[in-house]
Amino acid sequence: MKNIVIFGAPGSGKGTQSEKIVEKYHFAHISTGDVLRAEIAKGSELGKTASDYIEKGQLIPDSLMTDILASVYDSLKDAPGCIFDGFPRTIPQADSLSQLLEERNEKIDAMIELDVPEEELMARLIARGKTSGRSDDNEETIKKRLEVYHNQTSPLMEWFEKAGKRHTVVGTGELDRIFADICQVIDNL
Ligand code: AP5
Ligand code: MG
Repeated sequence: MKNIVIFGAPGSGKGTQSEKIVEKYHFAHISTGDVLRAEIAKGSELGKTASDYIEKGQLIPDSLMTDILASVYDSLKDAPGCIFDGFPRTIPQADSLSQLLEERNEKIDAMIELDVPEEELMARLIARGKTSGRSDDNEETIKKRLEVYHNQTSPLMEWFEKAGKRHTVVGTGELDRIFADICQVIDNL
């Protein structure tokens, strides 16, 4: 099974490109943001805890997130690969993911980073906020999410670089061109 981390700032296109990967390669897709939003919609205890963090643009605590990730991963059946979208987001989460995969005789095969300038991220998310209904797609929370990304998540680029797994794709322009660049990475694994 190929384990691929799709990495990038809020609004960089992780969800959009993951859908295209799923369609072409039939990989499973774990978006931790989607998992949390589904729990909020259900009104579960986990959803109640998560919504406070999400509305403020903050990260859910690592230990909680890692438990959720492990249970979703273990529920996957017979997929030829898995895309991790929105996880890991901190160094401890990356260490946990490596360990979780190692315990299952698996490994992270690649991290694919979508590189998009900050002004474009802001514009995309403000535009999406008009229709998305996401509680975190408003200007104030978007700014906080971008700040959290810079402080807590972007140091992971170096973590993946050191592991020899970082692949950077230009994340602006035509969706199909971006996707072709992603496919090139996947096909060479
Ligand atoms: P999450 O749901 O992961 O949100 P995010 O990382 O902020 O990213 P988005 O989903 O907003 O953007 P995306 O990169 O998927 O881009 P998209 O394809 O939608 O996390 C939400 C929250 O949950 C976090 O803030 C945190 O609180 C919590 N959380 C989640 N995971 C966690 C974890 N591991 N640990 C702790 N907390 C966690 O595209 C964005 C827009 O741009 C769309 O409108 C799209 O149509 C458009 N677009 C895409 N590509 C292009 C293009 N090439 N050109 C023009 N427009 C484009
Ligand atoms: Mg997303």
